[in-house]
Amino acid sequence: MNTSAFADFRSYPLISALVAVQPLVDRLQVQWADGRSSPFHHQWLRDNCACSECVYGVTREQVLEIVDIPADVVPNTSFIDPKGCLYVDWHDGHESRFDPGWLRAHAYDDESRAERLAAKPRSQLWNAELSLPIFDYQSVMEDTPTLLRWLLALRDVGLTQVRGVPTEPDSLVLIAKRISFIRESNFGVLFNVRSKADADSNAYTAFNLPLHSDLPTRELQPGLQFLHCLVNDAKGGESIFVDGFAIADALREEDPEAFRNLCEIPVEFRNKDRHSDYRCLAPIIALDSSGQVSEIRMANFLRGPFDAPAAQMPALYRAYRRFIAMTREERFRVIARLNPGEMWCFDNRRTLHARNAFDPTTGARHFQGCYIDRDELLSRILVLQR
Ligand code: OGA
Ligand code: ZN
Ligand code: ZN
Repeated sequence: MNTSAFADFRSYPLISALVAVQPLVDRLQVQWADGRSSPFHHQWLRDNCACSECVYGVTREQVLEIVDIPADVVPNTSFIDPKGCLYVDWHDGHESRFDPGWLRAHAYDDESRAERLAAKPRSQLWNAELSLPIFDYQSVMEDTPTLLRWLLALRDVGLTQVRGVPTEPDSLVLIAKRISFIRESNFGVLFNVRSKADADSNAYTAFNLPLHSDLPTRELQPGLQFLHCLVNDAKGGESIFVDGFAIADALREEDPEAFRNLCEIPVEFRNKDRHSDYRCLAPIIALDSSGQVSEIRMANFLRGPFDAPAAQMPALYRAYRRFIAMTREERFRVIARLNPGEMWCFDNRRTLHARNAFDPTTGARHFQGCYIDRDELLSRILVLQR
């Protein structure tokens, strides 16, 4: 039996040694050297056996299905073996060994669960006073610790700038690939933001763009957005950002009814042109399973007519107006003009972005952009942290 492997590619340092195991009717109660006591139900232990019969060593994925084991599975004996592992031999003759580092990392007593919750990365909310995380292109490209710092800032702050990016068209691809593959859309692998006569989006005009997320018209909005400045000689066109999570939290405080309506009433966003027609019906604010704000979906210029029960319509408008009014408040807004060789990179599902109108008769303006999904960012962080 393979005793060192668990169904993972990470390592699990020994936080505290196992000192005793007490068999109870439906579980083993385990004592740790630091005084903690953790229950592990029989089914849970059998389900998590990492032996080579239960887990395929190459993929480290489970082949066992717990439903194929009787629900009343019970150990014959259990003890702490000389290597400090929890050893269990089962009534049917199967044997399991649990690494104490792995076991502690997955313990589900109240204290251990609270500890894991507290250790979960938290969004650092920001407002107009944000001290913008700025990174140097060469360092991000060549130095892994800097890359990781950039990715953590993207995850936790949700707005960063990179400076010193080459201004040749398509340079964006190289730095995006430092994270992962690019998510293509109907606007291309890279999209070119410049004012053009046959614009297929208001983005490709010289109009101002109010605070928005990109592609709210898709079931899954892109997680990261890159905007790289190649040329910016035109008057105007400054970038504006707000932390959508901070605004949603403030709304929850200041106007709970409006907050609830934006969480509950779905709104349609539409992106239609001669060759495509994308529509997505979803609430503007999404919450995760713990009730925290996890996503903002917003672009006034892509919004379809509200379709809600007549009795809800006034309240929906009230909530929508209130949210937009907050995005316009100075206390939340960060404003900066992007220069050639500078690049914004931000969490498109959290940080709303806007552009002031620019005057194309005063000079050229050319940005290139692309997207990467949030999953890619999070996976890259975890692998770099292994
Ligand atoms: C966009 C956009 C910002 C800008 O293309 O979606 O937000 O500064 N552009 O042009
Ligand atoms: Zn097994
Ligand atoms: Zn945009």
